[in-house]
Amino acid sequence: MTTEHTRVAIVGAGPAGLVLSHLLAQAGIESIVLDQRSREQIEGTIRAGIVEHGAAELLASIGDTSRVHTVGHRHDGIELHFSSGDGASPAGEPEAHRIDFAALTGRSVWLYPQHEVLIDLIAARLAAGQDLRFGCTVTAVAGVESDRPRIAGTTAEGEAFEIEAEFVVGADGSRSVVRPAVTGPSREGGYFREYPFAWFGILCEAPPSAPELIYSNSDHGFALISQRSETVQRMYFQCSPDADPNSLSDAQIWETLQARTPGTELKEGPIFQRDVLRFRSFVSHELRHGRAALVGDAAHTVPPTGAKGMNLAIGDVILLDQALQELLLRGSERGLDAYAAAAAKRIWKSQHFSWWMTSMLHLAPEASEFDRLRQLGELRTVVESEAGQRFLAEAYTGWPYQTAL
Ligand code: PHB
Repeated sequence: MTTEHTRVAIVGAGPAGLVLSHLLAQAGIESIVLDQRSREQIEGTIRAGIVEHGAAELLASIGDTSRVHTVGHRHDGIELHFSSGDGASPAGEPEAHRIDFAALTGRSVWLYPQHEVLIDLIAARLAAGQDLRFGCTVTAVAGVESDRPRIAGTTAEGEAFEIEAEFVVGADGSRSVVRPAVTGPSREGGYFREYPFAWFGILCEAPPSAPELIYSNSDHGFALISQRSETVQRMYFQCSPDADPNSLSDAQIWETLQARTPGTELKEGPIFQRDVLRFRSFVSHELRHGRAALVGDAAHTVPPTGAKGMNLAIGDVILLDQALQELLLRGSERGLDAYAAAAAKRIWKSQHFSWWMTSMLHLAPEASEFDRLRQLGELRTVVESEAGQRFLAEAYTGWPYQTAL
C-alpha cells in the first residue's frame, strides 16, 4: 500500500463535505472527498427539504448543475395553525396565521429536497475534476496533533488505503468516525438532549394541499404538511419515538393527518414511503483539535422542526473554508483558532430555534393542561406581534453568514 497525499482529506460526501470541497477548490486548494456510501445511496436517501435564502444563493453559484432556483420552489412564508383551547375563540375553532417571510425580512426559503441538492453537487464536483470516492470506509484517523494527519481505511473493492493530508475534516454525519480524533477520550460526546416524541413521515402521490407549508399544533397533536412537487407531497405527524412505520394502515395515517389539520382538507393519495424520525439535539464538545475539525451532522444534530440541518452544515463550511485558506495559503492558524467559537454562535442559535419551534409545536406525553395553555399563549404571542413573527422569519430564512475573524 502506498500513502497518497492531498491538502485536505474530507470524510463524508454530504452537503457539508461537497460544498467545502467546492469552496476550497475555488481558492486553489486540492482535496480528496471520501464517503462510505455508494453514489446511488447518497442520491437516493430522503432527507429534509428546506434551503435557507443564503444557502440557496451559495448552491446556485456552484455551477450549471444547480437546480435549486429552477426546479426548487420559492416559499415566501409558512402557515402556523393552532386550535384554540384557551377560550379565546369558540372551542375547537382552528386559527391559521401566515408568517410572511418576504415582507418581514426580504428573504425567502427554497423547497428543494436534500437528495436533489446532492445530485447537483456530485455532478458539479465531478465535472470540476474533484477527487471524489464512494464506498470508502475510513477506519482510522491519526496524527491530528502533527501537521501531517492521516486517514486510513478500505476502498469499495476491499483494498486498504492511506491518505496523508495537511488537514482532516469530519463531514461524515452523526456517526462520525472523525469525531473521536477531535473530541479525545476525555471529552467524548457532547451536549445532548433527547425528546420524548418523533415524527412519522410519509411521501405520497397527491397534489399540494395548500400553497405553503403548514405547521399545525392541534388538539390532536402536531402535523407538518410539506411538499415535494406538484405531484408528490411530504407530510409528518408527531408520534412515539418507538413507533413502527409499518404499524399503521394508509387509512389510519390519513385519519391522523386530517384530524391534526382542522380547517384544511388534505388531498389524499397513495403513500409510497414511510419513516420515523427521532428527535435529538446534540453539539459536540469540541469542533476542532489540532489539524482536524468537524462540520455538519458530525458536529451537531437538530430536531427537524426548524428545517436547519443542511443549512447549518453550510454555515459551518463557510467558516471552515475561511480558516483553511488562512492556514493553507497564508500559513496562519488564526482562522482555525477562531473556527470553533465562530461556528458555535450559529450552531447554538440554530439549536435554540430548532428546540423553540419543537417545544412550541409539540406536547410531551407528560404535559399538563397548564403546559398546553401556556403553549397556546406562546403561539398567540408570536402571531399577534410583528416582532414575534419577524423573530421566527429571520431564523427560518437564515441569519446572514458571519466571517470567522
Ligand atoms: C420537509 O419537507 O422534509 C421538511 C420541511 C420543513 C421542516 C422539516 C422537514 O421543518
